[in-house]
Amino acid sequence: MHSFQPYPIEELSFNPFEKIGKDWALVSAGTKQKANTMTVSWGGVGVLWGRNVAYIFVRDSRYTKEFIDSGDFFSISFLDKSYKKALDYCGSHSGRTEDKMSNAGLTWNYKLSIPYIDEGNLILLCQKLSATRLTEDSFLSPDIKKWYADGDMHTMYVGEILEVLAR
Ligand SMILES: Cc1cc2nc3c(=O)[nH]c(=O)nc-3n(C[C@H](O)[C@H](O)[C@H](O)COP(=O)(O)O)c2cc1C
Repeated sequence: MHSFQPYPIEELSFNPFEKIGKDWALVSAGTKQKANTMTVSWGGVGVLWGRNVAYIFVRDSRYTKEFIDSGDFFSISFLDKSYKKALDYCGSHSGRTEDKMSNAGLTWNYKLSIPYIDEGNLILLCQKLSATRLTEDSFLSPDIKKWYADGDMHTMYVGEILEVLAR
């Protein structure tokens, strides 16, 4: 198990377009008994309601959504580029039907009882502040609905960043 240190959020200096959009991340939720993770490339970080937040978008069909919905927390783990294959795996297999973590060669770690990826090098531990299911009537640009042809809508979760961990 790797050793992680709390990292001051004001010293974070990453480009979210690269880090989330291009390198991807793993969103995890659950308990020490049972947790799940999935790859994300949509989301962001910022300030809302006077707090430092991260936001993610999770479709109805994702097994990970059940874990996010049934608890108060989720984590976002960033991994070194050498783990791209593992991220690809976690973005194309469901934990509903297999032990995705071990098949991807990843292991769990926990802080504040929140599961995160031990192979990560930067972790955001988040407490859910809001969950909003996006619906077609909220889309202002006509080309957005092409992303939802099958009705598998996203829920936007905003989480307060409780702690940043660095390896
Ligand atoms: C690069 C990449 C980015 C992804 N981004 C998201 C995302 O932001 N939101 C989402 O709901 N699914 C996203 N997915 C799809 C899920 O990761 C995928 O469906 C996964 O198998 C769900 O696993 P689960 O059923 O165990 O939760 C992405 C997949 C890949 C490969």
